[in-house]
Amino acid sequence: MPVITNIDDLKRIYERRVPRMFFDYAESGSWSEQTFRENSSDFDLIRLRQRVAVDMAGRSTASQMIGQDVAMPVALAPVGLTGMQHADGEIKAARAAEEFGVPFTLSTMSINSIEDVAEATQKPFWFQLYTMKDMDYTARLIQRAKDAGCSALVITLDLQILGQRHKDLKNGLSAPPKLTPKTVANLMTKWRWGIEMLGAKRREFGNIVGHVEGISDASSLGAWTAEQFDPSLDWGKVARLMEMWGGKVILKGILDAEDAKMAAKLGADAIVVSNHGGRQLDGALSSIRMLPAIMDAVGNDIEVHLDSGIRSGQDILKSLALSASGVMIGRAFVYGLGAMGQAGVTRALEVLHKELDTTMALCGEKGVADLGRHNLLIPEDFGGRWQEH
Ligand SMILES: Cc1cc2nc3c(=O)[nH]c(=O)nc-3n(C[C@H](O)[C@H](O)[C@H](O)COP(=O)(O)O)c2cc1C
Repeated sequence: MPVITNIDDLKRIYERRVPRMFFDYAESGSWSEQTFRENSSDFDLIRLRQRVAVDMAGRSTASQMIGQDVAMPVALAPVGLTGMQHADGEIKAARAAEEFGVPFTLSTMSINSIEDVAEATQKPFWFQLYTMKDMDYTARLIQRAKDAGCSALVITLDLQILGQRHKDLKNGLSAPPKLTPKTVANLMTKWRWGIEMLGAKRREFGNIVGHVEGISDASSLGAWTAEQFDPSLDWGKVARLMEMWGGKVILKGILDAEDAKMAAKLGADAIVVSNHGGRQLDGALSSIRMLPAIMDAVGNDIEVHLDSGIRSGQDILKSLALSASGVMIGRAFVYGLGAMGQAGVTRALEVLHKELDTTMALCGEKGVADLGRHNLLIPEDFGGRWQEH
């Protein structure tokens, strides 16, 4: 067993073990990937204030997200095709999250279905909704999430159409992979993945296949999105979806103060400041750079979470110190899952927790609620240089 001390270690093992098509799917941003890169590099621009001679005994990272107790304010983000990164990937990630005491979010575009994950876990998880043109199907999805006891509906607002990711088109991304000479050659080098996948509960989109009729190609994410996702989703429809759900709602994919105000006005329980991990609007600013302006606009009115670019406990601390109540992680847990299955997700959470806890201590703080801008050194032009004109 290699010694894993950081998220990059997991990524290196992940790259070796998982078919190229799925590694590329996770490790891509849209078009030039500028936003994808800056999501992480912008965290590095913020520095931390070292404080000393503060009693560090009895520290805790425990907190709450949308009123739920969490061991640390970090939720697993919805990630499509997680069950292609590792056999029964959604079930394994959900179990790791449950054991660790953090929320797991199941994507609409998952391989394991809502029911599979509910059956394999004890605690409620969150369900992420993509809205489809077929309102009956959308209503059935919402009902299935209710029946499964999901404790929050995460409505994703930044993917009515798919941002282009060059590698997915070139690789012919599909679930399961189509057997072309190129994929077969690559799969032969990933025999462990293949053997585990043979025993998987599912290898197709579990929330779709068997629940919708007349789809031309349910294995292709690109084709399904183009045909089925609802391009007319607007705030009125969001309000109707919230009403249909009737429980806690998190609106994900907010990157603008005006949109954040709309989300607060609708009465959502939280927003996720996110640019979908740089996979949608290339050229958008990083989430961490947008966070201060959004906090200024709605910080008193709604709970604010952040994702996109988090690879360390230090990144988490910076987000919390800029007043986010919690964060979501996407790739950071996918690397662990692809590398080592459930144990890898647990390892990713342990790594992040240790980094958060130690960094908090070295900043002279004992709890996540004590973190604030006083812990940070922020470049003067961090937000301002980009103000609209
Ligand atoms: C491979 C992959 C698939 C994703 N699929 C979904 C999805 O199905 N639904 C969704 O709302 N967001 C999806 N996202 C976005 C994540 O929920 C999250 O916003 C993003 O991963 C955060 O950035 P990070 O990966 O840098 O942590 C996906 C992200 C990745 C990397």
